[in-house]
Amino acid sequence: MTEATAPKGVDPTVPSPARIYDAMLGGKDNYESDRRVLGLLSDLYPHAATTARENRAWLGRAVRYLAGEAGVRQFLDIGAGLPTQENVHQVAQAVDPSCRVVYVDNDPVVLAHGQALLAGSQNVAVFEGDLADVDAVLERARETLDFTRPVAVLLSAVLHFFTDDQDPYPLVGRLRDALSPGGHIALSHGTGDIGSDDSKTFTDAYSQRVSSSLFLRDHAQVAAFFDGLEPVEPGIVHAVHWRPEPGTEPRPVEEAPVYAGIGRLV
Ligand SMILES: C[S@@+](CC[C@H](N)C(=O)[O-])C[C@H]1O[C@@H](n2cnc3c(N)ncnc32)[C@H](O)[C@@H]1O
Repeated sequence: MTEATAPKGVDPTVPSPARIYDAMLGGKDNYESDRRVLGLLSDLYPHAATTARENRAWLGRAVRYLAGEAGVRQFLDIGAGLPTQENVHQVAQAVDPSCRVVYVDNDPVVLAHGQALLAGSQNVAVFEGDLADVDAVLERARETLDFTRPVAVLLSAVLHFFTDDQDPYPLVGRLRDALSPGGHIALSHGTGDIGSDDSKTFTDAYSQRVSSSLFLRDHAQVAAFFDGLEPVEPGIVHAVHWRPEPGTEPRPVEEAPVYAGIGRLV
């Protein structure tokens, strides 16, 4: 992606969480400003890219579980990020092509790329929206998804952009209240619970250099997002330990300090 062809409304000189994450995943939808920040962060915390990849791998396993074992056919992915490999609609529609997916992100570059990638995709919508304005997100999502039937809300690596002062818990509560029985919330969240200061060093540096702050939470704080939901086995655990692919050895949690889990509305 070149600075000269930046979509309207996108300032390529200002690093963005979506594009830094894309750079961590080895994607091409990022600018020099994003790669510069990633370089600085990786010097401080060498597992930055691994953390992003492990989070993304968890998301793939979670969506496979939801579309497979849990039988969900509708997905609302908030903080969806830039299209990359193993996008949610590709994973879900590999299980059943009738799966409907709505992608939402507050970064305009995601919308521009999402629309280009999804042109021609069936049962997929993308729009710009802010989780902070959760009612507006739900209203738009209802144009594509039927909330009287089970919907899986995905909040993968997005809630740590909300500080405690911004109180994200009621936002997740609003999403839970919009679900009907059989609906799920799947979320992942950065944590400092790894027995070292490495991830804190990373988040402090990130918050200083990027417009959005990163706010780590411990296990109890992440578990509180699942209030009112029944945890799906194995509960809220380090993402690398959430149903790892059979025959694979999970990475040490220090290399991917992220909690993840799925809750089901009964
Ligand atoms: C780390 S990326 C995660 C992408 C994807 N969910 C994944 O896990 O692979 C976080 C994404 O959340 C988006 N984001 C951050 N704050 C948001 C908000 N308040 N509302 C919607 N999206 C947000 C960012 O633009 C970015 O694309």
